[in-house]
Amino acid sequence: MRKDRVLPPYRIKVIEPISILSAEERKQRLQQAGYNLFHLQAKDVYVDLLTDSGTGGMSQNQWSAMMVGDESYAGSRSYARFREAVDDIFGFTYVLPTHQGRAAENVLFSAMIKPGDVIPNNMHFDTTRANILANGGEPVNLVIDEAFNPSLIHPFKGNMDADKLRAFIADVGTERIPMVMMTITNNSGGGQPVSLANLREISEIAHAHGLPFFIDACRFAENSFFIREREQGYADKSPAEIAKEMFSLADGMTMSAKKDGLVNIGGILAMNDLKTFELARERLILMEGFPTYGGLAGRDLEAIAVGLREVLEPSYLADRIGQARYLGEGLKSVGVPIIEPIGGHAVYMDARAMVPSIPQAEFPALAVANALYLEGGIRGVEIGSVMFAHESPDGHVVYPEMELVRLAIPRRMYMREHFDVVIDAAEAVAQAAPTLPGYRLIEGEGPLRHFVARFMPLHRT
Ligand code: F0G
Repeated sequence: MRKDRVLPPYRIKVIEPISILSAEERKQRLQQAGYNLFHLQAKDVYVDLLTDSGTGGMSQNQWSAMMVGDESYAGSRSYARFREAVDDIFGFTYVLPTHQGRAAENVLFSAMIKPGDVIPNNMHFDTTRANILANGGEPVNLVIDEAFNPSLIHPFKGNMDADKLRAFIADVGTERIPMVMMTITNNSGGGQPVSLANLREISEIAHAHGLPFFIDACRFAENSFFIREREQGYADKSPAEIAKEMFSLADGMTMSAKKDGLVNIGGILAMNDLKTFELARERLILMEGFPTYGGLAGRDLEAIAVGLREVLEPSYLADRIGQARYLGEGLKSVGVPIIEPIGGHAVYMDARAMVPSIPQAEFPALAVANALYLEGGIRGVEIGSVMFAHESPDGHVVYPEMELVRLAIPRRMYMREHFDVVIDAAEAVAQAAPTLPGYRLIEGEGPLRHFVARFMPLHRT
C-alpha cells in the first residue's frame, strides 16, 4: 500500500438519502431564495458545503453516550463528564457550557466589554464581530499582511502581526482593551492556522500589558494538526499535547463545539479569572441556563465529552485535513484559483481572481457561489462584500480585501465522489466566468445581513 495514503478511520453505518434537482428546478429554487443560498431548503441542495458547523456525523460512541445523558437540572453526571473532558484538554479553572459559540461570545463580551472598548484579534469571525458591536465595542483585525494574498504560501497565515498589536496597544492604551483574542484556525482568513510561536508571542505581549488573552477555539484540533505538521519541534507531539500547550498560554476561551467538538449543537466558555467568571456566570444564568447545563440537554454534554477526545485522534485529523486537500488540489488542477495553502475545514475559492469583471459593489463572490449551485446543486457560502462591506462614518462603503466562496467540509459526512462533483461544477463555473452576472442588493442590512439579504441578478450588457 502507498505510504502516503490517508485511511479514513471509520465506515458508514447509517445513511441519509440525498438527491439532485434538475438544472431548471435549481434555477427556480435560487430565484425563489432571492439569490441567497441561505434561503434555500436543504433538500434542494446536493452537496451542502455551507458550513462545517454542527453538520458533521457523530460516532457510535457519541450516540451511545447520549443514551446515558443525565437530564438533572443541576449537577448532572453528564456535566461531570463534560467537565472532565474540558479540564483534561483545555485546563482552565472555570467552565461554562453554552448552547453554541456565539452564546459563549455574548456571555463573555457582555461581562467584559464597556462602550468604547476595542478588541484586537487576528481576525474576528462574523458572530464575534457582531457580538462585540452589539455590546458597544469595536472589533479590530491584526492578522499578518500575508493573509491577504490568496496565492502566497505561508505555513501559518492565521498569525497575528505582533508589531501591529504593539503599535495598537500603544495607540489606544490598555484602558480600552478588555482582552486580546486569537481565532484558531482563522476562519475568515481561509481556515489558516496560527503557530505556537505566534500564540506565545501574542500572549506575552498581552500579559506584559496586563491584558487577558482569550482564544476562539472552534477549530483547535485542526490547528494542532498543522502545528504538528509544520512547526519545528512538534512532529513528535500528539495533537492533545499541542492543544495543552496552546491553551496554557491563554486566560480563557470561547468555543463553538459544533466544529471541533464533533457535535451538532453546543459551546464552551472557560477562563481562569474568578471575577470574570462570576460576572459571566450571572450573564449565563440570565441568557442560557443554570451553569451546569448552559442551554444544552445533558445528552448534548455527553456527546461533547466524547467528541472532544475523538477530534484529537491523529487518524481522524489526517482524514479530515486530507479531505480538504483532496478538494483543494482537485480545484487547482482544473484551474480554479483558491486560497493557499489549503486550510483545515474548508477550501476558499478566490472569486476576485475568477470573475475580475464583476466589481465589488456587484458582489463577485455571491456570483460565483450562486453559479456553483446552478451548475451542480452545491451550496457554498459567500465571504466577501455581502458579509463584510459596510459604511464608514463618513458615508462611503468600505469593501473587504478578499472576495471568497467558502466550501466548508462537514466532518465525517461526504466521500471523494461528492468532492469530484464539486470539482467538475467549479471547473464549469470558472469557464463560464466572463458571462456570470453581478448582483444588486434589494433587501437586508447590518453586520448579519448575509443571512437574510435578497438580491437581483444584473444582466450583463
Ligand atoms: N468563531 C468562529 C471562528 C466560528 O467559525 C464560528 C462559527 C463562531 C465563532 C460562532 O459559533 O456558530 O456555534 O455560534 N462559524 C460557523 C461557520 C457558523 O460557518 O463558520 P456558533
